[in-house]
Amino acid sequence: MRKKKSVRTVTALMLSISVAAAMMADIARAAAETNADKGFRWRNGAEVYSKVCSYCHEGQVGPRLFGRELPPEYTRAVVRNGNRAMPPFRTSEIDDESLAKLAEYIQRN
Ligand code: HEC
Repeated sequence: MRKKKSVRTVTALMLSISVAAAMMADIARAAAETNADKGFRWRNGAEVYSKVCSYCHEGQVGPRLFGRELPPEYTRAVVRNGNRAMPPFRTSEIDDESLAKLAEYIQRN
């Protein structure tokens, strides 16, 4: 009995985490897309990080990115292609130049 209940609890927990991640991905995308429509350009890597990535990477959803000296080419690949629960971002959301700045910003911090 106990075992069954905890399996159910874990399943419910995993489900709510993935729903939360999907919702946050939508919020982040909507913010980025609205900006792109207005011919918006990100100011720098810090701005993209705080407005898009920090939703998940400063919360409980994604792993911490700072202090790990992540290679910029790795960050760029993950952002463009996504990876499991990490959503992909298109060039209309984060242009190449901003992504390059963002990846360097993450490596430095
Ligand atoms: C909707 C939540 C969400 C958003 C928004 C998000 N990420 Fe992620 N990210 C994740 C999750 C979850 C993972 C872990 C994926 C896995 O391994 O299953 C991840 C993984 C990563 C990784 C790999 C980390 C490692 O330890 O290998 C990088 C790099 C990364 N994200 C960068 C970014 C950047 C840069 C942004 C902003 C443009 C961003 N993410 C926005 C959820 C998100």
